[in-house]
Amino acid sequence: MTRRNPISTRTREARISAIKEMSILGARVPDAASLAWGLPSFRTPEPIRAAAARALAEDPRAGMYALPAGLPELRRAVAAEHRRRTGIGIDPERRVTITAGNMQGLDTLFQVLVDPGDEVIVTDPGFVSHIQQIRFFGGVPVYWRMDEAAGWQPDPADLPGLVTARTKAIVIVTPSNPTGRILTEATLRAVADVALAHGLIVIADDPYRHFTYENRARFFDLASLPELADNLVYLFTFSKAYAMSGWRVGYAVLPEALIDAVVKVHDKTMICAPRLSQIAALAGLEGPPDHLAEFERVLGRRRDLICERLDRLDSVFAYARPEGAYYVFPQLLDTADDVGFAHHLLDAAHVTVTPGSAFGPSGAGHVRMAYCVGEDVLNTAFDRLDAHFGP
Ligand SMILES: Cc1ncc(COP(=O)(O)O)c(C=O)c1O
Repeated sequence: MTRRNPISTRTREARISAIKEMSILGARVPDAASLAWGLPSFRTPEPIRAAAARALAEDPRAGMYALPAGLPELRRAVAAEHRRRTGIGIDPERRVTITAGNMQGLDTLFQVLVDPGDEVIVTDPGFVSHIQQIRFFGGVPVYWRMDEAAGWQPDPADLPGLVTARTKAIVIVTPSNPTGRILTEATLRAVADVALAHGLIVIADDPYRHFTYENRARFFDLASLPELADNLVYLFTFSKAYAMSGWRVGYAVLPEALIDAVVKVHDKTMICAPRLSQIAALAGLEGPPDHLAEFERVLGRRRDLICERLDRLDSVFAYARPEGAYYVFPQLLDTADDVGFAHHLLDAAHVTVTPGSAFGPSGAGHVRMAYCVGEDVLNTAFDRLDAHFGP
């Protein structure tokens, strides 16, 4: 009998993300204190849970498909939110597609944009799943180096030199995963200028806009630039800011030229985002935003705690203080082998962190720590690190 490999080449060549890999390994160590996964400890706010419960009890359609682009009432609420935030009005019927979270939105977009050999510019370090998704469709991630000495800012002057005839898009995350730093307005305006000059799509993947602890005024929203509207895809997820990571819901504000292609691919992938999650997301947008300030305050306290604990280990780690999101990306002072370091730490100290090299070449010799976990977990992790590295 002929033996055939049932797995496609691109799937064989893909690796599970280092974040999940460490989380899976960590789950085998029953008492591991995990700083590996950006999974916030918060519960979905009560008004959102109540709206979903009400819909399940009273709305006979709550368990049914929606149209691929999403529930009209949610798309209208998204357009209203977009106008409130950016001052720019958009047609909800055309420009808004409800996704099953940014991961699905990104996956759909890269399918739409990338032919084998096409290039997509990503920050280095940047979000590991962008790199995997681009590669999965035969694309080439092109790294725009962030300078650690400059607080993990990229140099805008480097950007034009990265553009080739194969470049399709530039992906931006601010505040950044994994560095927690906010990109400057000058940098983001340079991204817009380069995109406009070369006809590129800018993908603003925006899970963390609601979590900024300092330099808040520095947060600049690319979606507020009217001249970029025909080149910008803005992706928002309810996972983090609304503590809805398991509901799998987000939205994309699309430029006219991509709408039909995105809806087509979104439909063949999953038909629609879960309707119940869309109902819950609508309650989130319509409800009082009280929890946003509360989440930000709690995460700000956790940031202060992790920085204070890292400061005590200043012979092991050197780091740039995060301004937003809930990650810190310390450099390892004693070794360049971040993968070995992360595995050893799990075995020897029962603390899970993510090796930095997963986030791009500049991440080598670093680890990412997510401080969205409770203060008890942070303290346990750092008590163990203190004991492990000694006085
Ligand atoms: C930059 C970035 N994009 C996307 C995601 C995934 O978001 P979602 O839960 O909406 O798929 C994450 C989650 O950590 C992220 O950090």
